[in-house]
Amino acid sequence: MGYTNADPFIAMDVAMEFRKHFVLQNQFTWVKHIAVNDTGHGQYKPITSKRYVSVTNEHIYHFTNKGDVEIDRLSIGQRNKTHPIWPELYSEGRHIANARRSIARLMKFENYLDVQKKATAKQKKEFYSALEKRLMNKPYQPDKLKCIGNCWYIPYTPTSRLSKLIGNEGDVNSRKASRADHPATFPPALPEKCIKLSGIKKGSLVYDPFVGTGTTIVEAVKLGMFGVGTDVSKKFCDFAKKRIKYEINQNLLKKNKTINKNKSEKTSAKQAPLF
Ligand SMILES: C[S@@+](CC[C@H](N)C(=O)[O-])C[C@H]1O[C@@H](n2cnc3c(N)ncnc32)[C@H](O)[C@@H]1O
Repeated sequence: MGYTNADPFIAMDVAMEFRKHFVLQNQFTWVKHIAVNDTGHGQYKPITSKRYVSVTNEHIYHFTNKGDVEIDRLSIGQRNKTHPIWPELYSEGRHIANARRSIARLMKFENYLDVQKKATAKQKKEFYSALEKRLMNKPYQPDKLKCIGNCWYIPYTPTSRLSKLIGNEGDVNSRKASRADHPATFPPALPEKCIKLSGIKKGSLVYDPFVGTGTTIVEAVKLGMFGVGTDVSKKFCDFAKKRIKYEINQNLLKKNKTINKNKSEKTSAKQAPLF
């Protein structure tokens, strides 16, 4: 749900209506543009104003019947990459330091320094043996996926790239050809993340009542779901139908190519010993 400076409560008002019937299980912020240090990432519609700043985010509400639906957090998880500003945040050193601290506390010391200062030789032996065991059972895993939290940076897809995705040739920068002049399309990664996170199984039905140019349905089908979309605008529905057909055919073609490639690789692997 988007909002404007002139109508900042619109998304919250809609959420309050839903609140009467459902439970808000999770809420997210879709960040379209973010400044990290002195570098901006993403795009937004800049405004000229002496009162307002430009709006660069939208709200995503995850309403469910009782707030107890099992989700799949790691399907959109990320690696424990080294932090770009504070590298020690996700480093192996920090992992070891955390293990040290927790063992120190288990042994009723304040922290590792306390162990070094106050522990007896016997306690130190016990400490280091527990640390070794802990690090063996729970090693530093920089590739392990973890929950990405509820703030998602997803930039818009540039018009020229969208054009290519949906098979436009010629003027790839035409908003009309690439998105039926739709003013507010989703980047594909947005519905993709929502569908994956929801934890629904392949073959489930995804319904987008505000389907626009069909992004949600394309992503749903790519993920093995069935998709249904409706929109108040016939123009958008017609465009969505065309796009969905094209993107799904492309996707099937790609899939078939991979299957055939794998088949031929398997065949040649089987045949290899003959030569
Ligand atoms: C934010 S856009 C959705 C864009 C879409 N996800 C995409 O990627 O193209 C919202 C859509 O809701 C449609 N809409 C607005 N009011 C509606 C209504 N009352 N019933 C059905 N659709 C509506 C608009 O035409 C618009 O296409």
